[in-house]
Amino acid sequence: MLTNRQGHPVYDNQNQRTVGKRGPATLENYQFLEKISHFDRERIPERVVHARGFTSFGYFESYGAWGDRPIGEFTRARLFAERGKRTDVAVRFSTVIGGRDSAETARDPRGFAVKFYTEDGNWDLVGNNLAVFFIRDAIKFPDVIHALKPDPITFRQDPNRIFDFMSQTPESMHMLVNLFSPRGIPADYRHMQGFGVNTYKWVNQAGDTVLVKYHWIPTAGVKSMTEADAAQIQATDLGHASKDLYEAIERGDFPEWELRVQMMEDHEHPELNWDPLDDTKVWPENEYPAQPVGRMVLNRNVDNNFAENEQISFGTGVLVDGLDFSDDKMLVGRTFSYSDTQRYRVGPNYLQLPVNQAKQATVHTNQRDGQMAYDQDQGGRNPHVNYEPSINGGLVEGEYPTHDEQGPEIRGRITRARIERPDDYEQAGQRYLLMEQWERDDLVRNLVENLSQCARPIQERMVWHFLLCEDDLGLRVGEGLGIAPADVAGLEPLQQQDLSEADRRRLGNLG
Ligand code: HEM
Repeated sequence: MLTNRQGHPVYDNQNQRTVGKRGPATLENYQFLEKISHFDRERIPERVVHARGFTSFGYFESYGAWGDRPIGEFTRARLFAERGKRTDVAVRFSTVIGGRDSAETARDPRGFAVKFYTEDGNWDLVGNNLAVFFIRDAIKFPDVIHALKPDPITFRQDPNRIFDFMSQTPESMHMLVNLFSPRGIPADYRHMQGFGVNTYKWVNQAGDTVLVKYHWIPTAGVKSMTEADAAQIQATDLGHASKDLYEAIERGDFPEWELRVQMMEDHEHPELNWDPLDDTKVWPENEYPAQPVGRMVLNRNVDNNFAENEQISFGTGVLVDGLDFSDDKMLVGRTFSYSDTQRYRVGPNYLQLPVNQAKQATVHTNQRDGQMAYDQDQGGRNPHVNYEPSINGGLVEGEYPTHDEQGPEIRGRITRARIERPDDYEQAGQRYLLMEQWERDDLVRNLVENLSQCARPIQERMVWHFLLCEDDLGLRVGEGLGIAPADVAGLEPLQQQDLSEADRRRLGNLG
């Protein structure tokens, strides 16, 4: 029987209470006012980025090894420890820039966020489908997102704004070469890779640390779309990727990914001409092999999209013992941003919601109250004691698992500075050279199409950057825009940008 939230039966859900058949309505109309005022509050703020997404559930199964080495040599995280050990997961795939109901065919990175409900508490691996990012310092994140989001007046996404920002941000070149290639529109969520993008650490029993990068590889292979494919799908369906994932799981065709991990010793690696903490770089796989550590299967759809997809909350600070942060300047900023936005978006007690709870671990905190607190969480043997330390039976600290010191010792002066090895162009050029011919053609076509809508100085600066990435890329984009190398060879490097002698010579020769 239909009731209201107070448990009162609803006898008439069609007619409000009125004085006489034709009204007026009365103010003590509790049932009607409750119904409509709850409806008025049905929406919570959508995510400021990654608003459109879809969540599924399943499990992660560990191989107990990193390649052919026992994984315990590198991390003491218990979810990885034994071969065959399974951990429940929730995964939310998303687009980044559009709102909650926007098209899933957009040229846009895709989010790939995994929540592992481990026995040591939750671990979130919040990644994307592209291996690198636009920027390398979190302080620039609001700017890059503002440039990519719709214009504040016309409310249209505008290539002139996007490339205005990117043309002044050389570190974005590697990401742009990926994003405007076919990889920028994955065919659906089941056929795309995932990358942790930022550099993390693993910690073993002895407190030794290594730097790691995470990769998810879909068993079904990677598939992407051209602009033309995407336009055709978008004409009839704005949510093809969610639909594809939902239907595959409903028919028992469970999607699967292998988790692979790249590893490096934990130090600055002066031998490299890029920095291992720079998220605009990939680690070449021939030198740093991505070794399998487990697989993930998604086998259950949400029961309620709002409770399990809209309210699910991931964050890069959500790590378990044996896994740690690196000093990657993006990661630090992200780690603040996620829980901060979730306290606003979902509410201060967002971690009490079933989908966000650490289901497999025991939770006892001295956190109390706040909006919508419902979990008793009395903790301890004495519920009067919601502080620590106490001799009266409150909660006590756990025994520290092993070492409380780990990793290399770091010294430095407080400063604001760019990292020392930016090398913004080489990997972007290499990525272009690794592409098949049709992918290069598609990339150039997409760039020219978008840049054609930009002001001439922005076009020139972009051609200048692309020439520095790879001659052929710069020449072809320039040709599409009617800009010859000689037109841009005289441009001065941007403020704060050091151009190597070799790069200057290359530009000069082309000019
Ligand atoms: C979502 C901030 C970079 C992947 C979000 C959200 C914020 C945010 C505020 C919304 C979270 C929510 O409402 O629950 C930032 C900041 C970044 C950054 C400040 C840079 C400093 C990145 C990078 C990646 C990434 C590099 C990829 C590795 C994601 C994903 C989501 C997300 C997958 C969606 C999570 C979900 O499905 O709920 N980010 N982000 N972000 N971000 Fe980032």
